[in-house]
Amino acid sequence: MHVFHTISEYRYWRNKLPLDVSVGFVPTMGALHAGHASLIEASVAENTFTVVSIFVNPTQFGPKEDLSKYPRTLAADVALIEQQGASIVFAPAPSEIYPETPTQMIFGIRDLDKKLCGASRPGHFNGVVQVVSLLFHIVQPHNAYFGQKDFQQLLIIKQLVKEQHFPVKIIGCPTQREVDGLAMSSRNVFLSEREREQAKVLSAILFHLQKNRGSFASIESMKNFAYSALSDCPLARLDYFELLEENNLNEMPDLLSANCPHAFIAVFFGTTRLIDNLRL
Ligand code: PAJ
Repeated sequence: MHVFHTISEYRYWRNKLPLDVSVGFVPTMGALHAGHASLIEASVAENTFTVVSIFVNPTQFGPKEDLSKYPRTLAADVALIEQQGASIVFAPAPSEIYPETPTQMIFGIRDLDKKLCGASRPGHFNGVVQVVSLLFHIVQPHNAYFGQKDFQQLLIIKQLVKEQHFPVKIIGCPTQREVDGLAMSSRNVFLSEREREQAKVLSAILFHLQKNRGSFASIESMKNFAYSALSDCPLARLDYFELLEENNLNEMPDLLSANCPHAFIAVFFGTTRLIDNLRL
């Protein structure tokens, strides 16, 4: 396995590949866990070569967010990637990706970026789209793997690829969870013991709604269930809880006529923000 820090090293490797191989790509911000490993595993199984990028992208963090304290664990990440059988780690410095102060590119993305995390983190998805476009240009993958844990991000990347005619197939992979249901996340390390205990409320709400969907008469009653479960967790501060149509994030008129209802939740524990989602 090679670890490249510059675009030119990567291009040298990429340009030598014959035309009949496939390159799978897993973009990450590092601090890798079993969720990331599952994407790498899928890519290794389906492609001749797998490239994993590690880049904490400054343009997707808001001014008051956790860019400087985002966990950076390069040596452990490289070991995990090698163990999974990937071929290349691409870990550029910010100055490599953004040699000048990044010009702000404004992407439309059909307003998919206006809701949920986009509403609570203005500019976040613009930064994601910016860096993923740059990484696709550099890496030139055939297939790219994204987690359903970040469901809105996955929808936005699919839309980006469609609008910009990137010759890349986007593959969504299932959310990997801890034993008690908490979705794995690089941010879970910031939780105190008590916060970690209460953090299981996110997935508990989602799985309860999924299992008992038939016994809820309305969207309102599902929301009330979520609010009531959260009120038992004094350390949890709700950012949003929404029930939306899965493919376009549109509001649903009611539960019966809804097309693929999907629940989305974001909760703060102190300054740590956790998200989760589930098809109901
Ligand atoms: P990051 O949070 O590091 O996540 C990298 C990829 O891992 C994303 O596709 C994410 O959805 C997936 N992932 C994270 N936790 C997961 C879990 N528990 N189960 C399955 N997949 C999981 O998402 C980003 O980085 C960035 O926004 C990025 C796309 C790299 C652009 O900077």
